Amino acid sequence: MKNPYYKIIDQEETIFEHVYKNKLPLLIKGPTGTGKSRFVEYMAHKMGKKLYTVACHEETSATDLIGRYIIKGAETVWIDGPMTKAVREGAILYLDEVAEARPDIIVALHSLTDHRRTLFIDKTGETIPADDSFMLVATYNPGYQKGFKELKPSTRQRFVSLSFIYPENKVETEILINETGSEEDIAKKLVKMGAKIRNLTELGLAETVSTRLLVDAAILIKSGLPQRLSCNVAIAEPLTDDEDTLEALKDLISLSI
Ligand SMILES: Nc1ncnc2c1ncn2[C@@H]1O[C@H](COP(=O)(O)OP(=O)(O)O)[C@@H](O)[C@H]1O
Ligand SMILES: [Mg+2]
Repeated sequence: MKNPYYKIIDQEETIFEHVYKNKLPLLIKGPTGTGKSRFVEYMAHKMGKKLYTVACHEETSATDLIGRYIIKGAETVWIDGPMTKAVREGAILYLDEVAEARPDIIVALHSLTDHRRTLFIDKTGETIPADDSFMLVATYNPGYQKGFKELKPSTRQRFVSLSFIYPENKVETEILINETGSEEDIAKKLVKMGAKIRNLTELGLAETVSTRLLVDAAILIKSGLPQRLSCNVAIAEPLTDDEDTLEALKDLISLSI
């Protein structure tokens, strides 16, 4: 498989390598679309490690991560979940949006994230020490969880943590060009527009424009869809359902491109 494209922003690569070498768990914080998942894929590929990704949501339970018994003919057989596989094989377990998952996964995380580095499976009575090359990586979006899904401080303190933010204009332009093959002039305009929208805090957006949305707009433009229309459907519409805010965003778009 081709190495996933990832533009290094800061010290994240070195930090990741040190965290891995020292068998610590890593938490990556940051708003959606800032390259967290891409970074983890890139690191896994670079280090030649298998990656088990779990996109956590409200229904994700410890059973989903650890495993379950299933009925096969006349027998019941145990099937390892992604966490158990990663622990046995020495892979990277990547829990995307970990705060979304059910609280019962935290119990499983505890014994894995401290000196024990052990997984207990109560259903089978098994205790599995993690392979030396096992690594736990989680991501969490502190922004939109305001008020409801927070990661408990006691859980947060188990991880070495890294913050991802939107890249500066020059870097983001480079990402757009590399990722989409977009013309430099278009990429620059999109990035400038993105920066403007990020500055407009009075729009009251729950989440502002991410690199992902700019990439989507660049892809549509490259494919031949008119520029403003591309931005309206790839940037304005995904950001809000509120009519006034949508109008304001579309105005800003037509002034920018
Ligand atoms: N540093 C980066 N290098 C390469 N691509 C990036 C980078 N940051 C963001 N992207 C682009 O933004 C998109 C969204 O990134 P992703 O990793 O899915 O975000 P997150 O997991 O933080 O929500 C990627 O598909 C990629 O096109
Ligand atoms: Mg992601």
